[in-house]
Amino acid sequence: MANDVAATTTPLAELHMHVEGSLEPELIFELAQRNRVTLPYRDLDDLRSRYEFTDLQSFLDLYFANMSVLRTAADFADLTRAYFARAAAGGVRHAEIFFNPQAHTARGVPLGEVLDGLGDAVAASEAEFSLSSGLIVGILRDRPVPEADAMLTDLLASGAPVIGIGLDSAEVGNPPSLFADVFARARAAGLHAVAHAGEEGPPDYIRQALDLLGVERIDHGIRCLEDEDLVDRLVRDRVPLTVCPLSNVRLRVVDRLADHPIRAMLARGLAVTVNSDDPAYFGGYVDDNLAQLRDAVGLTDAERETLARNSIEASFASAARKAELL
Ligand code: HPA
Ligand code: ZN
Repeated sequence: MANDVAATTTPLAELHMHVEGSLEPELIFELAQRNRVTLPYRDLDDLRSRYEFTDLQSFLDLYFANMSVLRTAADFADLTRAYFARAAAGGVRHAEIFFNPQAHTARGVPLGEVLDGLGDAVAASEAEFSLSSGLIVGILRDRPVPEADAMLTDLLASGAPVIGIGLDSAEVGNPPSLFADVFARARAAGLHAVAHAGEEGPPDYIRQALDLLGVERIDHGIRCLEDEDLVDRLVRDRVPLTVCPLSNVRLRVVDRLADHPIRAMLARGLAVTVNSDDPAYFGGYVDDNLAQLRDAVGLTDAERETLARNSIEASFASAARKAELL
């Protein structure tokens, strides 16, 4: 169920959501049946009992395992449409969604199936859900750099409607610096650039993402709070941070939602936005994140409004679309 969103408030843009992380348990079973994939779970309850994570890697293990049910363009289109329907019901009017091609090509699913399915849903999102959308290709930073490079070559050759490049998966030990050349090529081809940094990794990874990858937004970025000079820079340059509160709790980046520093980040002048990251795994969509923040940390209506405005301003939507939404 979507949470109530007052009609008068600024709508939301969701800027940090991995579409494979919106794969709900029911759809996992449905797609397994459709594609004759044998799942290692007895039933839905058995699957749900595994959604207990100790860190990022423990989540990633399940996230990648469950992708085995995604095989055809129709699967990717159904997954993306299910996300759009739920996001729209929660007040999202613009969504920039991550996807991980390497996680699919590595298990034999052709890149074309992935791009056809996602592209189909994205092309229809305004007409079907009154929601503008775009795709951001996510590099898996724990896989070899030449693989990311080859993926980018294939992606650019495909002519797929991708608006940006990002960097995700296991952060610690896989610094942004490794991917400087891949990002330079993507930016030269006209793609926007973002990167996960400062989720489990140190503040220095945020600096690397800015200085070596040329990113326009930082995904997560919560560990910037350990480095006052870095915070000054992020505030001064209005670098958006796509923060994901429920994810932070479920992956033990933050102990409890009541301890989440989102209000302090806003008060400090950081351009923060709230996002769901992997909503099927972390207990909620973007409206759930906002509703739970209200209860756990006392997020005010004015702060919620600032978060919404930040999300539209930080998006890669056209100036005309932003003006429509603000
Ligand atoms: N961090 C890194 N990689 C990811 C995440 C995340 O929160 N979600 C999906 N891939
Ligand atoms: Zn993420």
